[in-house]
Amino acid sequence: MPKRILITSALPYINGIKHLGNLVGSMLPADVYARFERARGNEVVFICATDEHGTPAELAALKEKQTVEDYCAEQHEVQARAGELFGLSYDYFGRSSNPSNHALTQHFANVLEEKGLIEERVDKQVYSVDDARFLPDRYVEGTCPNCGFEKARGDQCDNCGRLLDPVDLIDPYSAVSGSHNIEVRETRHLYLLQSKLQDRIENWVESQKTWPQLTRSIALKWLKEGLRDRSITRDLKWGIPVEKDGASRPGFEEKVFYVWFDAPIAYIASTKDWAEAHNEDWESWWRTDKGADDVSYVQFMGKDNVAFHTVSFPCTLIGSEESWKTVDTLKSLNWLTWYGGKFSTSEGRGIFMDQALELLPADYWRWYLMANAPESDDTSFTLESFAATVNKDLADVLGNFVNRITRFCKSKFGEEVPAGGEAGPVEEKLYLELDQRIAAYTEYLEQMEFRKACAELRAIWAAGNEYLQEAAPWAAFKEDPEKAAVGVRTGLNLIRLFGILSQPVVPFTSDKLLAIFCETVTDWPSGPASDSLTVLTPGQPFTPPQVLFSKIEDDQITEWKERFGAA
Ligand code: MF3
Ligand code: ZN
Repeated sequence: MPKRILITSALPYINGIKHLGNLVGSMLPADVYARFERARGNEVVFICATDEHGTPAELAALKEKQTVEDYCAEQHEVQARAGELFGLSYDYFGRSSNPSNHALTQHFANVLEEKGLIEERVDKQVYSVDDARFLPDRYVEGTCPNCGFEKARGDQCDNCGRLLDPVDLIDPYSAVSGSHNIEVRETRHLYLLQSKLQDRIENWVESQKTWPQLTRSIALKWLKEGLRDRSITRDLKWGIPVEKDGASRPGFEEKVFYVWFDAPIAYIASTKDWAEAHNEDWESWWRTDKGADDVSYVQFMGKDNVAFHTVSFPCTLIGSEESWKTVDTLKSLNWLTWYGGKFSTSEGRGIFMDQALELLPADYWRWYLMANAPESDDTSFTLESFAATVNKDLADVLGNFVNRITRFCKSKFGEEVPAGGEAGPVEEKLYLELDQRIAAYTEYLEQMEFRKACAELRAIWAAGNEYLQEAAPWAAFKEDPEKAAVGVRTGLNLIRLFGILSQPVVPFTSDKLLAIFCETVTDWPSGPASDSLTVLTPGQPFTPPQVLFSKIEDDQITEWKERFGAA
């Protein structure tokens, strides 16, 4: 029986194309996992979307001198395109600003209010007299009360990482106009009474037996501090309006829901949009009373998102007392840094998704990023180690193997799988190693241990080279052409097997490997390696590929370091 697996990646903010750190923080590992589960024959729905509301979107649009609607529409296309070029195999790449998300967000707010979990409260907020507006979150900047950094944002200090309340900033000024003419005024907001949900969320977290340690400890830390009621509306224009009974809620005409309230709901709304586009049933994925109880739901995200996914969003779902599917497995990643520091658009530090593809094809990046995924700790991206990894693993190990065996076969046996001979001890040894390694690789992917999975995949490729070294068909050819034929036939079958196994991580390369034998998608190996390595039989034609990978040269590294702020 195929399993039903719902996969979501944290939704990338709309404000600009994402860098390699964002990519490996959620979207790419989610894609590798989705591809793996599909290859195993499971039914997968893989959802992502742009996270379009909140102050980052408004401020970025302002900077680009565009309306926020136009800005978001344009940037959504830019991100959708970049994702596609990177091979991110979303079943749907939605938008948190879509009508479906408006409707669902209103729905949740109404239900939560019916359950006594939402309350209007009067709150103090930073107000800019010159701009004639409130300045929520990032609209206000000032000096951090914790570390003294002078450009701290209202919601967080980028220097010390402390989460802030805008009214705590010292010497605040408007991020819109720079005006220091700032007051603290009263304003009315909706509060989600998370404190009332403490026990229910705690029980739910306790019942999660498969969460990784990092996830669990972050959730427990928040629960231990005690859940605080939090405001779920903001004084902003762009966002989901606050309604009651289908009209503006009195007193909230100029307000919208807080981005962190509506964004996770967009996981559901985007699934709904997907279902609508493909004539599918979204409720069977999200409602446990409509069949979603047999769905396994896996979320991917960076570590800064964990609290929102283990506490805040569950408050919305569980607080509604409706039968919503909650997350089963949550994979969170640490940071990928740029030479130990931050990626930064404004300071031109680091490589962004579009730039990466100008330099090299997607699989070069995919391989390096996944093989070095920041799983147990923050990991530093350097062009030096990127080049070393690509040159060794992809060019020397995988690329060279494919090149050697196809070229040799072509010159001695022609462009078809050679006949003759039988597997002997050298092949038996290879089967044995591959049986173990394929099992381990599969297990690591299942566990979402991506570094370890990539280490196994690399070892599987290397086993191919070691085998060729021992079987040495070029040496055998003169004396014992049958023996050479076995070696070549096994080598060609290895290429095909590599094509299948490499698909989750380097899908474009996988396509090329399978295309050598005119195959496309093939099943994940479930039987012994001796079966997988005898699928291609004598006489089967093949087409030798072009060179698969080119090496990265030292002068390229020097040039890129200069260009991307690493010199
Ligand atoms: N945009 C957020 C970030 O990049 C993630 C939102 S995840 C969601 O940190 F669940 F809220 F959608
Ligand atoms: Zn600070």
